[in-house]
Amino acid sequence: MTDSIRELTILQPDDWHIHLRDDKALATTVPHAAGSFNRVICMPNLVPPVKNVEDAQAYRARIMQHLEASNVSAERKAAFDPRMTLYLTDHTTAQDIELAAKSGIVQAVKLYPAGATTNSADGVTNINACVDVFEALEKYNLPLLLHGEVTHDHVDIFDREKRFLDEVMVQIIAKFPTMKIVMEHITTSDAADFVLSQGNQIAATITPQHLMFNRNHLLLGGIKPHFYCLPILKRESHQKVLLDVATSGNPKFFLGTDSAPHATDKKEAACGCAGCYSAATALPLYATAFDSVGKIDRLEGFTSRFGAQFYGLPVNESTITMIKTPMQIPASYPYFDGSSLTPLMAGESLPWSIKGSL
Ligand code: DOR
Ligand code: ZN
Repeated sequence: MTDSIRELTILQPDDWHIHLRDDKALATTVPHAAGSFNRVICMPNLVPPVKNVEDAQAYRARIMQHLEASNVSAERKAAFDPRMTLYLTDHTTAQDIELAAKSGIVQAVKLYPAGATTNSADGVTNINACVDVFEALEKYNLPLLLHGEVTHDHVDIFDREKRFLDEVMVQIIAKFPTMKIVMEHITTSDAADFVLSQGNQIAATITPQHLMFNRNHLLLGGIKPHFYCLPILKRESHQKVLLDVATSGNPKFFLGTDSAPHATDKKEAACGCAGCYSAATALPLYATAFDSVGKIDRLEGFTSRFGAQFYGLPVNESTITMIKTPMQIPASYPYFDGSSLTPLMAGESLPWSIKGSL
């Protein structure tokens, strides 16, 4: 009976999708991420984006400087390992991919359809023109990370993920059957079914907000900007399927927080930014989601094994202990230049916490 599990030691998790941002923001985001995760796959949607190996090396160095300067424990500093991604543009070449694959620091490349989300203006405008790049990804076995939404103005925001699957994914997979693809932050039963129907080269990450919430949480009783992210939260039936597949023990589904910081005033605005911030509290959030369906015993596969397996990396050796002792999520964190950062579920309490963190 998993109901009786009140303490759970798991292999140290990795976050296969995180936004750390850059420069002063790193002083907040890096210690938060390093508190829970060993490897983190750092999204490249900076301004300007991380487009080549040199950009990735310089970005990693900035992250490591902030790690060193932080008050994270020596043990966590030694374990934290940011892995870089390149941002695909209309100008990325097969040679960029070859250099990335051989660089040893680029773990994957990210495709944002132009205009899909935050800082995606330099993204790909025509996926059909990416043939050389996709061939190179397949050749070097470098995963393609997809923000899977179509972007045409006339497509309803709630339909954009499914339309991407039907209109774009099917074609990509037909032409590049062995390319490794992660459907990032899936939000629909359609995406879950799609991933289940494909071979082992196709996997998906799932965020805490898409496991715990649906569009009613975003919109009922007033607009809640801290639940606004992209792809947008969908109806409850989709949330239930995501929770089913995440807790199923199927290794195609693994942890990717999509923790995406925006200063509080940029979210609580007439045109609020998309992104939920969860870096510091992701593990208690995921534990709470898994426990809500009696599947806390399945947490370790999702948080600490399946992602590493997909990327062909060893699982971590150290462990972390989750405990069923309530914690309160801070109302906000100090962010740079006097701004603040409001996390997902700010001010609320969760039944699970990281042992030793309270
Ligand atoms: O909500 C989101 N925020 N979705 C994304 O795809 C990007 C992210 C960000 O960078 O803020
Ligand atoms: Zn993201």
